[in-house]
Amino acid sequence: MSETLRLTATLSALNLRLEPLDGARPVDPPNDLFRLGELLLDAYHAASGDPKSVPADEQVAGADALEAVDGLLSGTYGTFDAEASELVEREGRVVTATLVTTPEGGPLVAIAMTHPTWQRRGLAGASVARAMARLAGRGETSVDALVTDDNERALALFRSLGFAERP
Ligand SMILES: CC(C)(COP(=O)(O)OP(=O)(O)OC[C@H]1O[C@@H](n2cnc3c(N)ncnc32)[C@H](O)[C@@H]1OP(=O)(O)O)[C@@H](O)C(=O)NCCC(=O)NCCS
Repeated sequence: MSETLRLTATLSALNLRLEPLDGARPVDPPNDLFRLGELLLDAYHAASGDPKSVPADEQVAGADALEAVDGLLSGTYGTFDAEASELVEREGRVVTATLVTTPEGGPLVAIAMTHPTWQRRGLAGASVARAMARLAGRGETSVDALVTDDNERALALFRSLGFAERP
């Protein structure tokens, strides 16, 4: 049984700059809903080449993916933070997204995801770092992420960006 870990990055302690990222643009909630649902489905699907890549209890089916993105964009998990969030397009499709919400207690990277074909090229790292820079730029002092303890790639991603478990 996996456990959800809350990781926190102290933005003021990090040297954050808004670096350019080719193809990055703001999320347009109604128009991007299906593109983001599709990306969620692909990113979280076991058929990404490594059946162990996404923990079984995190894998999603089509309708669930759309519902999850719709809920996130419409505020089910805290107000969607359109200013901090972004998606990245390459070759005409959405390949990475960083979706930030603001539940009580401060900003949360609710989803960071990259299409399997585009993984391990630095896209999620660069995109989450840009979200962090935007949050820092408007005076936020910290940002959280929720990751299950068996999601090794996500843990490595967030740790590489300065996130750690709260003591
Ligand atoms: C986790 C995820 C977003 C990483 O996306 P990505 O674009 O491949 O990540 P990056 O290429 O920017 O990698 C950044 C860092 O994350 C870590 N990382 C990413 N993929 C990894 C892997 N397969 N194994 C180990 N570390 C990994 C590494 O520290 C990496 O830095 P490095 O390449 O310099 O070593 C992607 O694997 C994904 O979409 N997973 C499914 C969705 C998910 O679980 N999201 C997280 C919870 S919200």
